[in-house]
Amino acid sequence: MIFDTSDPNMLDSWLTIGPQTRLKGTSQANPYRTILLGAEVSAWIDQGENFVAQSNGKWLMLHTAYGYLWVCPSSKPAKPLFAFPEYAEAGRRVVDCDGIGVAVSGLRMIENFLDMAHFPYVHASYLGELPQTEVAPYKVSVDDEADEIWAIECKFYQPRTSKSATTGMEVQYRYRMMQPMTAILYKTAFPRPGEMDAIGLFVQPVTQESIIAYCLLAFFDDTTPQVDMISFQHTIFGQDKPILENQRPKRMPLRGMSEIPTRCDAASVAYRRWLVSKGVSYGAIVD
Ligand SMILES: [Fe+2]
Repeated sequence: MIFDTSDPNMLDSWLTIGPQTRLKGTSQANPYRTILLGAEVSAWIDQGENFVAQSNGKWLMLHTAYGYLWVCPSSKPAKPLFAFPEYAEAGRRVVDCDGIGVAVSGLRMIENFLDMAHFPYVHASYLGELPQTEVAPYKVSVDDEADEIWAIECKFYQPRTSKSATTGMEVQYRYRMMQPMTAILYKTAFPRPGEMDAIGLFVQPVTQESIIAYCLLAFFDDTTPQVDMISFQHTIFGQDKPILENQRPKRMPLRGMSEIPTRCDAASVAYRRWLVSKGVSYGAIVD
């Protein structure tokens, strides 16, 4: 066994190994090397200009989409990679924020991404502000056809929702969970309040308890310098990182749903139920 799991939710899905730009200037003799599911993966551009990947001498199915590299560890994908139509939508600006290493389970990372209750405490003066701590009720729905979960009609007062924001505003949120370790957040675009910016969170599970979390923006923002947009996201991620790394256990307990999320966490409850229904074990405590 090459990878350190038998969980089909990981092996038969598309997992990112980073932005496509990693392969610039690579060759078989000088590949890009990274770790996925505990195994070393090498990827490079071959002499026919094809993007290829191997692990322990075995070829892996590699797909490029949304500026990222996606590997199917078993080379038997259960379904095609999720759709991300906003990536190519006219009027949006795509900015890759690259990845940050976090010593936590990828499932914990995604759950944190869905959690609005921590905004005023962890992201004070950016995504929330005391004493406005209440998470208003919102709806959770399951898209059976795409096998995705949505949390919709979420709203939260934010002092500074993005780099381009100059005042506080009540921001509308929508969360979409496409895979156990991949989600997209849609939130009110400050320069165009009728539209929603998209933030993709693509998690590379390095091991069960360590990840690289990549962030891709598809924003309605023609003016903010790219470096400032990236640094804003890194500030937010940097605030989450120590909180995530101090969570115990590092894996998500799914056995008997032993950690009961609070009243506000409808998205978290739905996410955990979805993981349990799929039998996700990688990055989880299930027995
Ligand atoms: Fe956060």
